Amino acid sequence: MQYALGADIGTEGTKVLVIDERGRIVKRTYSSYTFDVPKSGWAEQNPEIWWNAFRSCLGDLWAQGISSTNIVAVGAAGQMHSSVLLDETGEAVMNSILWNDTRTKAVCDQTLRSVGQERYQTLTCNSLLPGFTLGKLLWVRTHAPEVYERIRHILMPKDFINHRLTGRWTADVSDASGTGIFDVRERRWQSSLMTELDLPQAWFPPVFESGAIIGSVTPAASDATGLRTGTAVIAGAADNAAAAVGMGIVDVGRGLISIGTSGVILSCLEEAPSPHKAATQNPTLHVFCHAIPEMWYAMGVTLAAGASLRWFRDSMGHGASYDSLMDAAAQSEPGSNGLIYLPFLAGERTPYNSDQLRAGFIGIDLQHKPAHFVRSVLEGVAYSLRDCLEVVQSLNQNVDNVDEFVVTGGVVNSPLWLQILSDVLDRPLAVRSYSEGAAYGAAALAGLSQGFWTHIDDLVKDQSGLAKDQPGLANDQSALARNQTDPSNERSGVEKLVPSPGVAVYREGYKRYKAYAQSFLHLA
Ligand code: XUL
Repeated sequence: MQYALGADIGTEGTKVLVIDERGRIVKRTYSSYTFDVPKSGWAEQNPEIWWNAFRSCLGDLWAQGISSTNIVAVGAAGQMHSSVLLDETGEAVMNSILWNDTRTKAVCDQTLRSVGQERYQTLTCNSLLPGFTLGKLLWVRTHAPEVYERIRHILMPKDFINHRLTGRWTADVSDASGTGIFDVRERRWQSSLMTELDLPQAWFPPVFESGAIIGSVTPAASDATGLRTGTAVIAGAADNAAAAVGMGIVDVGRGLISIGTSGVILSCLEEAPSPHKAATQNPTLHVFCHAIPEMWYAMGVTLAAGASLRWFRDSMGHGASYDSLMDAAAQSEPGSNGLIYLPFLAGERTPYNSDQLRAGFIGIDLQHKPAHFVRSVLEGVAYSLRDCLEVVQSLNQNVDNVDEFVVTGGVVNSPLWLQILSDVLDRPLAVRSYSEGAAYGAAALAGLSQGFWTHIDDLVKDQSGLAKDQPGLANDQSALARNQTDPSNERSGVEKLVPSPGVAVYREGYKRYKAYAQSFLHLA
């Protein structure tokens, strides 16, 4: 039996799974960690955390009885945008500044003024948002020149793992898209902008399509990980692009919703992005290369989705588990009796692009109980995703034709949160039985490189064929549980849910959410 291994180098943990030639998950493992918040609005991580977590996940796989001789290819996906700045030996010169760190807002705005907002958008198909890698590089140049002097290479988090595995300096088109210095339409570095901004082109590695084989596991990496020397390693992909592949979002008929630390709405474009449209598009829209050649997608991103629930659990949950928080939330009626949560713990990306916004509960009255607070967190995150959907819609009218959104991330374990999402977005959702979309997509791309399938569509078609309609999941907690315990569903189990009568309450709630967010923005 041949297996492909997929890894997702996330913000709060690394997930690794192994799939067989039919795309079934054979084993999975996870290693969690946290990120540092040295100042309000900042977020950092030492890249060694990712490598150690990756190695620990592999150790766990071997302990679970997987043999490295069966693993023929490795694919990694990872958090997007987070800067990995390395010296000539491949050691990090500083902590990675993460995608949800907004310290670079001023330098981004200043760069946009000097390049010209419309011109920048024409050159890259995107605006320069504070989460993107370029701003981090320019921030380090101004604020830590002695560190900047030591930089020789720039990688994305999953490329750091690939470098440790193969010794190669590489990037892939989907992650390079999020650097802010990439020509997304032409799928190559935006080298004229590098010259204009006085950035050494040599720091930026060769770029590959995500499924391309970039090298193989070296003897040293084999010693460190237990993978076989010579195992093929592919370029891999940005976590959201990989998740889209993993969830079968490879045409315009379906969209992706992901709730991990961040929250994401993504839908594929029908054609290559046009520089003309890019010049005037909403600056908080992301238009990036997909992990499939000749495909692109549009995306909106909210910074603290799962992070909001985690924050609530850790700071106000008195040690409660996620399950008990969900049970509490279910005690509150839809709309949380008028309580609104704004999820701006680290500022916000889509649609506000603000480093100053901060979170809040608004409309607290004497009737409110803890249950209302938990539920309002789930609802506030869903409202922020509704904002993202509207921005994606502004470019990609096809979103109106998206038959369903497929959901990935930890949210798939909560029927209540899923129903809230469906109601707030007023969209049917499809939910797979596993939450590791990005790791699965990375494994699928690795399997594809070894001929497990001739085309990614073959895997996707097979997955859709097994989908079955099952409306009204909201009150049927057993539906997801059933899928999770049935091994034959490990790969393809899909449940569908449709909006409930809660839609009307949330239409009103969303209007109030927007009004409050606008006033917060005004005050920030
Ligand atoms: C996407 C983004 C986040 C990270 C999370 O633009 O910033 O979704 O990729 O890992």
